[in-house]
Amino acid sequence: MINLSNFSSIFIANWKLNGNIEFIDQYYQKLSINSEKCIVICSPNIFLSRLISNPNNLFKGAQDVSTYNQGAFTGEVSAHMLSEENIKFCLVGHSERRQHFNEENSSIKQKAINLIENKIIPVICVGETLEAKENKLTKTVLKKQISNCLPETANFQNTIIAYEPIWAIGTGLTPTFEEIEEVHSYIKNLNPKFNQIKVLYGGSVKSSNSAKINSLSNVDGCLVGGASLEVDDFNLIIS
Ligand code: PGA
Repeated sequence: MINLSNFSSIFIANWKLNGNIEFIDQYYQKLSINSEKCIVICSPNIFLSRLISNPNNLFKGAQDVSTYNQGAFTGEVSAHMLSEENIKFCLVGHSERRQHFNEENSSIKQKAINLIENKIIPVICVGETLEAKENKLTKTVLKKQISNCLPETANFQNTIIAYEPIWAIGTGLTPTFEEIEEVHSYIKNLNPKFNQIKVLYGGSVKSSNSAKINSLSNVDGCLVGGASLEVDDFNLIIS
């Protein structure tokens, strides 16, 4: 398992269903890595073997994993298979998976269990809808997601939480910096077990707002979707 405490911050590129072989080759030619930061590229599974990594600060990540370990489950990829491909991180419970693939907290928890057993760090995504935010239910929603998605075995060394307000993903909208700081602090104080856990912010992170977001004291890095597809933008975000 990667030692997360080695890094001042963690930046994860979530390419979602994007990319091709030429894109990947050009991306790594231009990607510029800084030594104290942990950089993770999450590509579609078909490209994982093409991603470049190093043992110090550049890692490969998956976007999802099966709840099953093996057997007659056509189309699935297990945590053990990911570990054989040298995958060190895996997103779980991304809101797009919850929304389009009916993923529930119980399966997210099982995925996190499988990943931890295979020494892959689950990046467990949580976040509220706009409706919940408007009804001042953000903390209630997050508390429920976190208590139902994090397995007993999760701790600050083997698990990351990504706070991604659903209404901020791909919209250009973000919470205020004060709101981000407040939510991250709330997450870290939910349980003494989590007070050192790394909490990343995701949702419309761009080169224009990433420095300020990342400077907030309870923000340990960012999960970047759209802006991670432009390597020049991603370089600015991680610089
Ligand atoms: P976005 O996506 O940066 O395009 O808002 C973030 C995510 O979905 O992880």
